[in-house]
Amino acid sequence: MRVLGIETSCDETGVAVYDTEQGLLSHALYSQVKLHADYGGVVPELASRDHVRKLLPLIQQALTDANTKPSELDGIAYTAGPGLVGALLVGASVGRSLAFGWDLPAIGVHHMEGHLLAPMLEETRPEMPFLALLVSGGHTQLVQVNAVGSYKLLGESVDDAAGEAFDKTAKLLDLEYPGGPRLAAMAEAGRADRYKFPRPMTDKPGLNFSFSGLKTAAANAIAEEKAQCDSPEGLSDQVKADIARAFQDAVVDTLVIKCRRALKETGLKRLVVAGGVSANTRLREALADTMHKQGGQVYYPRAEFCTDNGAMIAFAGAYRLAAGEQTDSQAAVRPRWPM
Ligand code: KG4
Ligand code: ZN
Repeated sequence: MRVLGIETSCDETGVAVYDTEQGLLSHALYSQVKLHADYGGVVPELASRDHVRKLLPLIQQALTDANTKPSELDGIAYTAGPGLVGALLVGASVGRSLAFGWDLPAIGVHHMEGHLLAPMLEETRPEMPFLALLVSGGHTQLVQVNAVGSYKLLGESVDDAAGEAFDKTAKLLDLEYPGGPRLAAMAEAGRADRYKFPRPMTDKPGLNFSFSGLKTAAANAIAEEKAQCDSPEGLSDQVKADIARAFQDAVVDTLVIKCRRALKETGLKRLVVAGGVSANTRLREALADTMHKQGGQVYYPRAEFCTDNGAMIAFAGAYRLAAGEQTDSQAAVRPRWPM
């Protein structure tokens, strides 16, 4: 089965062609990051308009790169949610229209299921069941994956997602949007233990997270430093790097503690880490170390499939279409959609 996948839930336009026999045949991505940078965050209306501009040329490119004619496709998958409603509608409308015109089945895919299954695009695939840590700009979740479509939510953030906390803290440090990767880069020059931020909700039982307090801890540290600083340029790069380091260490430690707890409670030995924050080098190192010590194994998508992309949607859609599922033509997008 050969499937065209379309992702437009936020600020990346992603398209891919996945074949259940031959694997990933092509993928094309356009990032709107520059478009939103001046506003310090994603502007939903601009995101929708840019998806409209970019989607059809990207579909053409992905089909050409995959050496695939529309008549050789067996289905179309698009992200149906969760995400920005206008942005989702672009991918869903184009996907459904093409499916209608080309007489193909279409399926609306859950964006987080796409992230969850992204490591299945790699050569060494995790066997199910496994524990998944989903860490993106919109979600922080621990999920027990028994099979495709059989997911048990074990815990999630009660406030900000990990990526959201990275981005908000980066903003406090005057870093340009999207701040997460920039904060991570800055933290490399930071000194450990210069500041000590809390590891939220690790002293209580359970697998939920809370990250909004860490942003406040960073804001307090910045305010204290500013009160003592008489330089007109503001905080020194070293102070900023130290705060970035303390923040990142706290997020990484917290995620590791909860993963360890979830592995212990479920008895699972395989861990999948996905979503934008899974690109974080320190998180990857810490989780690899944890799994090594426990005699288990950790799986990640390749770097370009950690953040939003069409390949993960094509893969998840192909899996569901192959199982005989499809979404009827009335189905709307679901900006809020629990997994
Ligand atoms: O999965 P994704 O591309 O979009 C959502 O579905 O949210 O995740 C984007 C998030 C952003 O918050 C971004 O700052 C964060 O992932 N991110 C990182 C890194 N790379 C991306 N956070 C920390 N360290 C990184 N290296
Ligand atoms: Zn995402």
